[in-house]
Amino acid sequence: MQHQWCGPAGSGWFSGTPARHPRNILLEKKENGGGRKDEDKVDLAEQSLLNKLIRRSLVRNRNQVEVLQRDPTSPLYSVKTFEELRLKPELLRGVYNMGFNRPSRIQENALPMMLAQPPQNLIAQSQSGTGKTAAFSLAMLSHVNPANKWTQCLCIAPTYELALQIGQVIEQMGKFCPEVKLAYAIRGNRIERGKKLQEQIVIGTPGTVLDWCTKYKLIDPKKITMFVLDEADVMIATQGHRDQSIRIHRQLTNDCQMLLFSATFEDSVWRFAEQVVPDPNIIRLKREEETLDTIKQFYVLCKEKEDKFTALCNLYGSLTIAQAMIFCHTRKMAAWLCAHLIKEGHQVALLSGEMTVEQRASVIERFRNGKEKVLVTTNVCSRGIDVEQVSLVVNFDLPVDMDGNADNETYLHRIGRTGRFGRRGFAVNMVDSKHSMDIINQIEMHFNRRITKLDTSNLDEMEMLLS
Ligand SMILES: Nc1ncnc2c1ncn2[C@@H]1O[C@H](COP(=O)(O)OP(=O)(O)OP(=O)(O)O)[C@@H](O)[C@H]1O
Ligand SMILES: [Mg+2]
Repeated sequence: MQHQWCGPAGSGWFSGTPARHPRNILLEKKENGGGRKDEDKVDLAEQSLLNKLIRRSLVRNRNQVEVLQRDPTSPLYSVKTFEELRLKPELLRGVYNMGFNRPSRIQENALPMMLAQPPQNLIAQSQSGTGKTAAFSLAMLSHVNPANKWTQCLCIAPTYELALQIGQVIEQMGKFCPEVKLAYAIRGNRIERGKKLQEQIVIGTPGTVLDWCTKYKLIDPKKITMFVLDEADVMIATQGHRDQSIRIHRQLTNDCQMLLFSATFEDSVWRFAEQVVPDPNIIRLKREEETLDTIKQFYVLCKEKEDKFTALCNLYGSLTIAQAMIFCHTRKMAAWLCAHLIKEGHQVALLSGEMTVEQRASVIERFRNGKEKVLVTTNVCSRGIDVEQVSLVVNFDLPVDMDGNADNETYLHRIGRTGRFGRRGFAVNMVDSKHSMDIINQIEMHFNRRITKLDTSNLDEMEMLLS
């Protein structure tokens, strides 16, 4: 499996097989006391107890995947093995080489539909971190005819980082299919114009994919036989993405197979998707199935921005956390928070949409490799990013839509950056006004899940909640 890439030289992202991370969540000792200058004895005792609690709850993770895969109520459960899904031997090798033992529910259910003959369309919903990427990557790798040296599968995702990540999964999974090649249609990847790509699979963001199909004519859209939309709801519901996705879709033939995946599909998006996708198979979750039991959700009452910052420092000072992602509403707030955390002595990285692609690639790579333990970001990283060591997600600002109402879908995706494939995770929401308390209530009602109040100064309560 090779790939076409002309991106940032020496970035290390695209050379060979991407590094895998240890399966078990590692607990790091805080390096420099996080800038809390005058910690008294009580603080140290608190810290030690809390570390013990968190460690206990994270260490239990080790066997959890196997336990969950045997539990019929879990989204990771399957009755079939990968062999029974009738994958080609070289793909089976790829899957086992990635350390997967059994398919998850979405993989078990979606793969036979995606590989059926004649081809069938699919709109599929499955909880965050349950292996949707592997499901559609296996479908693409099974679908292509390696002897044909033209693009046959097109996959689009909303962000640069996510497109890269999906490409890495395809590369890993297709490691034993040397004939199958992949190209990245992402910003910064300059391809010689005028001749058609030979790569059978192209993964990219909608703008660049559209350019490659129409402006540069690197891809013949009439020869695409499988079209995959990851994070499909955002691809068809948000203005910019929708226009581009529809324009790509229009160029494809009517019998091109369409596969739509996401953890969330708002009702209006379902209706729209069913109009666009002819005669689809549908895999849909009930509302109460959308949230994961393995992610515990809390809120902390604060007064204003500075108070939220103090709460965050207290939380971070008290808990020993593998890695954390902190979400802010605006780039400005993310930059403010990042600067203040750095001033307090924390090692933090910032990722927001206005950065150059080289900067973005380097920040996410460093975070993936654990070089920075904390990533402060905006909604640009709310979907799809898979860093298994993330054990805490903080909503420094709660996710709201244009009208200031709760953005339930973004909430679910953000908290889903933790609790990957059965691991345990914590999501903490900062509440700084009556309005943000209302938002928490709206989110609770929408998913019919309790979000528990967290008082970091009450150790007994913490022990109960976090155990
Ligand atoms: N069958 C499997 N066995 C073990 N691990 C798996 C399996 N399938 C996927 N995984 C792992 O699960 C993690 C989450 O997978 P993935 O990123 O595809 O989730 P997702 O469903 O796309 O989530 P999101 O909705 O957040 O995008 C990855 O680290 C992946 O390697
Ligand atoms: Mg995904």
